Amino acid sequence: MNKLLATVRLRLTLALFLCIPCGAYSDVNHQVQQLMEELRSEAARPFTAQAGLELWQRESDGRSCASCHTADPDVEGRHEKTGKLIEPMSPSVNPDRLTEIKKINKWLLRNCKWTFGRECTAQEKGDVLLWLTQQ
Ligand code: HEC
Repeated sequence: MNKLLATVRLRLTLALFLCIPCGAYSDVNHQVQQLMEELRSEAARPFTAQAGLELWQRESDGRSCASCHTADPDVEGRHEKTGKLIEPMSPSVNPDRLTEIKKINKWLLRNCKWTFGRECTAQEKGDVLLWLTQQ
């Protein structure tokens, strides 16, 4: 009986210990995961990071996401029009990124219109968010 209790206690301790990093990770990503689930129900095929990267690099009349964010999401960007600095987009470099659905939606709407002259589809948003969350 004591042995059983000791085993249970050990397992609980281990679970707690191991889940501190994963808990912090899921906190940061909870909002973007929820948004991606919503988008998934409107998208034709599963999201891929490769398609997200291609969207990031896609040029339309000389404009792309990289125009302001640079091709490398780990570094600071600069707004092409106003010259204002933009913090790095990679959540691994900048943990404040992709933590608020409202903010993500607002900027995706604005930035897709600026870059491509139209809103991005659910497929495009999901692909680029998947890629960004892995940076
Ligand atoms: C004209 C400049 C510009 C272009 C082009 C641009 N962005 Fe942005 N983006 C911004 C600014 C400014 C912000 C908000 C400031 C900030 O969060 O630092 C932002 C914020 C975002 C955010 C919100 C990040 C968060 O923390 O929630 C996402 C997502 C994003 N951009 C994706 C894109 C994608 C995808 C493209 C290409 C379709 C793109 N952006 C093109 C300027 C731009």
